[in-house]
Amino acid sequence: MPCLQRKSNRAKEKKARRLEERAAMDAVCAKVDAANKLDDPLAGFPAFKKYDRNGLNLQIECKRVTSLNPLSVEWAFELTRANMQTLYEQSEWGWKEREKREEMNDERAWYLLARDSDSAPVAFSHFRFDVECGEEVLYCYEVQLESRVRRKGLGKFLIQILQLIANSTQMKKVMLTVFKHNHGAYQFFREALQFEIDETSPSMSGCCGDDCSYEILSRRTKHGESQFLFFCCHIYSHLKNLTFTFNT
Ligand SMILES: CC(C)(COP(=O)(O)OP(=O)(O)OC[C@H]1O[C@@H](n2cnc3c(N)ncnc32)[C@H](O)[C@@H]1OP(=O)(O)O)[C@@H](O)C(=O)NCCC(=O)NCCS
Repeated sequence: MPCLQRKSNRAKEKKARRLEERAAMDAVCAKVDAANKLDDPLAGFPAFKKYDRNGLNLQIECKRVTSLNPLSVEWAFELTRANMQTLYEQSEWGWKEREKREEMNDERAWYLLARDSDSAPVAFSHFRFDVECGEEVLYCYEVQLESRVRRKGLGKFLIQILQLIANSTQMKKVMLTVFKHNHGAYQFFREALQFEIDETSPSMSGCCGDDCSYEILSRRTKHGESQFLFFCCHIYSHLKNLTFTFNT
């Protein structure tokens, strides 16, 4: 084949690949936009709107920060400060009050909020639908419980709800960041909830590994798993063909 012809074929292939990649990224962003347009991601799951176990009787709501009473967001901030300030101070990040408040009030923030029978909030999770490394994900920014409602299965229930919402909005995984020195939370996610260390976590990418005081954890949804399986099958059949070629 003449050199010019080969070059033009390569350029065409490159362009086709670029278009394919752009279409794939548009599809990812469309899923995140659709999830963000929902009124109530829990609307189809009434059984998950209450928690009536282990002596707790709670109502659970799912709202965007823009629909929440500002007093509830301030309560969430104060609980986060009470639970986390020391842990942040022991990390390379430090505790940055203004940034944390801005993050918690950012209009992309969604909240799961558990309230007791007097409508007083007792636990929450701040999460977002987002794109991480080209994948649509539900990122859990916080899960915070008042100490009087801990070890009653509520934290696990809230994370199960996040997993359910991630599945129903076709996100690929639930992600979160945890301090390694937050031993209780680390055990909760890694052992009780079987979260994996995400491939983007510093200890996996090898950039700062042991020096980093945090890990990024994740759990794939059924939408993430099928893609992962497809990828594995693709590699497997590719390897099988290679073996076949070598053997013949
Ligand atoms: C971490 C947290 C969300 C867990 O919620 P929770 O409702 O107390 O946990 P659950 O009752 O659902 O626990 C489920 C299982 O997780 C494990 N677990 C939970 N908390 C644990 C702890 N402090 N130490 C060790 N294991 C723990 C246990 O196996 C537990 O099962 P068990 O109680 O039958 O032994 C809650 O303790 C909390 O809000 N902590 C303070 C804030 C925080 O650190 N948030 C995480 C930031 S990344």
